[in-house]
Amino acid sequence: MSTLWQGRMSQEPSETLLEYTASIDFDQELAALDVLGSQVHVRGLERAGLLTRDETQTLLQALDQVATELAQGSFSFAPTDEDIHTAVERRVTQLAGKVGEKLHTGRSRNDQVATDLRLYTKRELLEVGFGIVSLVETLWARAEQSQAAVMAGYTHLQRAQPVLLSHYLLAHAWAFLRDLDRLLSALERVDISPLGAGALGGTSLPLDPAWTAAELGFGSVFENSMDAVSDRDFVAEALFVLALVGVHLSRLGEEVVFFASQEAGFFRLADADSTGSSMLPHKKNPDIAELARGKAGRLIGNLTGLLVALKGLPLAYNRDLQEDKEPLFDSARQVRLGLSAMAGLFERVEFEHAKMSEAAADASLMAVDLADYLVRKGVPFRQAHGRIAALVAQSLETGVDLKQLVRREADLGEQAAALCESATALEARVSRGGAGPQAVADQLGRFEKKLKDVKAALVAAQQNFSRVV
Ligand code: ARG
Repeated sequence: MSTLWQGRMSQEPSETLLEYTASIDFDQELAALDVLGSQVHVRGLERAGLLTRDETQTLLQALDQVATELAQGSFSFAPTDEDIHTAVERRVTQLAGKVGEKLHTGRSRNDQVATDLRLYTKRELLEVGFGIVSLVETLWARAEQSQAAVMAGYTHLQRAQPVLLSHYLLAHAWAFLRDLDRLLSALERVDISPLGAGALGGTSLPLDPAWTAAELGFGSVFENSMDAVSDRDFVAEALFVLALVGVHLSRLGEEVVFFASQEAGFFRLADADSTGSSMLPHKKNPDIAELARGKAGRLIGNLTGLLVALKGLPLAYNRDLQEDKEPLFDSARQVRLGLSAMAGLFERVEFEHAKMSEAAADASLMAVDLADYLVRKGVPFRQAHGRIAALVAQSLETGVDLKQLVRREADLGEQAAALCESATALEARVSRGGAGPQAVADQLGRFEKKLKDVKAALVAAQQNFSRVV
């Protein structure tokens, strides 16, 4: 018999059916986890009295052998191996003989594949989590080192106000820290074992889904067998988490492209993080940052594609669900690579402090600080705004320094003129979460605490998982 289901058919499956429906080319990725699931399933069968001690040992030995062959690349796939589950069962039966035919007792590929994929998603999200930690720690370390360095902060890509470089770096780091929080929360809903749900309705055999769930290191077990085999929310959530990390990498990437340009000149990328041109000998290009931007499209596409595949599906399992794997495998791999490329880039990037502070030195960037100065003297903000705007316009028209003009105004004068220096203006920016030195020092403390907490939760989740895998 060629396939697992040939018994029902009076004709061999057509070539095109096999080619069109096969998933073996990509679900090999699940091989080690599939074997793990089967090992636990076999022990569950023994526990239920459905396998003798000897039969159990024979099957477990065969599964070990299969795991070794898969890991060493010596496993030989047959043309009829439509997916990894078929391939493993076929080889186990070759190795173990007759008893191999008991492997699939009380199980369907529907609960099996969902189990494999949940284990995979847990493993990959944890990996991605540690990738986020590395990037966040890099941004944070560079923020701590950059001390009093000032740069121009932008809105609408127009210079807006001076900010500390550390404040800017932390702004990105907070976004990635939220991603980590979101990832941990998604993990809770990934961490549910579907094994024992069978094809859709459970089993009449005395299997114990709670026991296999615990053995596989899952935090909990399914409540409804139909839901268990058709639920791909965990894949959609993982793809969303990954897509949003991708969007954050993309936004950071866009700024790296801009700040590393000759036009801005804020960042100097290390040669190790730059590419050249095959024609123009002088070029040094920021391709990592550009691909961080470019690949976000594909990550969003992976999420969208899955949601569309799910939206009209009736309960319970439908083969459409096989389409869950490639986007997930792709997004997990791309995000892992992107995080580590970006972490390396930020470890090695040189900040051009002179250029950055020069961009922040233009007195008009302190316009709101001058308006605030008047506000403190009792001038309504809207009036103060108008007064300073007029001085800025006058300075632009006459070419006279804004600072000079401020000095000459009776209600502004020397004290206000001092605010035209970015360092002085920043000193005064004391509000919580603001861009001034004291506020940023406080923020760094809170950041460190939050990072420590989230990292501890990630490490705990990882320890729990590596107990099993
Ligand atoms: N390759 C299939 C998948 O990825 C495995 C489950 C097949 N189940 C079935 N009833 N045909 O979804």
